Amino acid sequence: MTKQSSRLEGKVALITGAASGIGEETVRLFAEHGALIVATDIQDEQGHRVAASIGSERVTYHHCDVRDENQVEETINFTLEKHGRIDVLFSNAGVIGSLSGILDLDLNEFDNTMATNVRGVAATIKHTARAMVAKSTRGSIICTTSVAATIGGTGPHGYTTSKHALLGLVKSACSELGAYGIRVNSISPFGVATPLACKAFNFEPEQVEANSCSQANLKGVVLKARHIAEAALFLASDDAAVYISGHNLVVDGGFSVVNRSYSFTPA
Ligand SMILES: NC(=O)c1ccc[n+]([C@@H]2O[C@H](COP(=O)([O-])OP(=O)(O)OC[C@H]3O[C@@H](n4cnc5c(N)ncnc54)[C@H](O)[C@@H]3O)[C@@H](O)[C@H]2O)c1
Repeated sequence: MTKQSSRLEGKVALITGAASGIGEETVRLFAEHGALIVATDIQDEQGHRVAASIGSERVTYHHCDVRDENQVEETINFTLEKHGRIDVLFSNAGVIGSLSGILDLDLNEFDNTMATNVRGVAATIKHTARAMVAKSTRGSIICTTSVAATIGGTGPHGYTTSKHALLGLVKSACSELGAYGIRVNSISPFGVATPLACKAFNFEPEQVEANSCSQANLKGVVLKARHIAEAALFLASDDAAVYISGHNLVVDGGFSVVNRSYSFTPA
């Protein structure tokens, strides 16, 4: 049985979107649990700062724009040269775009959202899975989707489209990679007060949290990036290694399964 304090001891994890928000928090939690991490992002100064605050014996920052397949492939090679293997991919980098209506849809922004949230994740799965298969690693691939992966109306059109597509990609990759013992899962968070959510809705962090609290069915908990990191830790660790693949772990306090506009009053 793995010690609760070191659930990733000796595992090598590659994390995208690691300079901020959910990715940063996951770097910190994985490091606490003994993982060796390659943290990647396009915000280099911030990424280096996160890595330095944890320590170079645990975390290395490496620039990677997931929209560029060459950079993704180079990052996987960098990780293999440094650590010899990849056990965990947390493909988490994402953008949300602006809240314009469908009648005014900016298709350039739509393309960028798809290039980051779908094509970018596909590139990370492709090259990480190649490395896992070549080294016979029974690895764990985890993608960050969203409540917008299953319902409409919670984010911009391009974002909702991209996250629905990403959920399909997770299922599709899972269908092939199971033969190699590689698990592919996703995590669907509700609103977390990160720069992405604050900027999209023009909210202060407290407003994002207040909105999630008021909309969620589960009361008495404020959703934090740490909660999403803990879900990623579970899927990355051997706790989920037995048989969990193709699963979308929804972390939304029941928001997406309860229609709060319908009021049922028992007689
Ligand atoms: N915050 C929320 O409410 C929420 C809810 C559901 C899902 N998510 C998802 O969580 C993930 C992380 O977002 P976050 O909320 O932590 O936001 P964030 O803005 O704090 O972090 C996203 C990170 O991704 C990086 N990134 C953006 N484009 C990139 C690219 N092309 N290549 C590499 N890195 C890139 C950014 O630089 C940033 O550091 C995203 O996929 C997002 O869609 C967030």
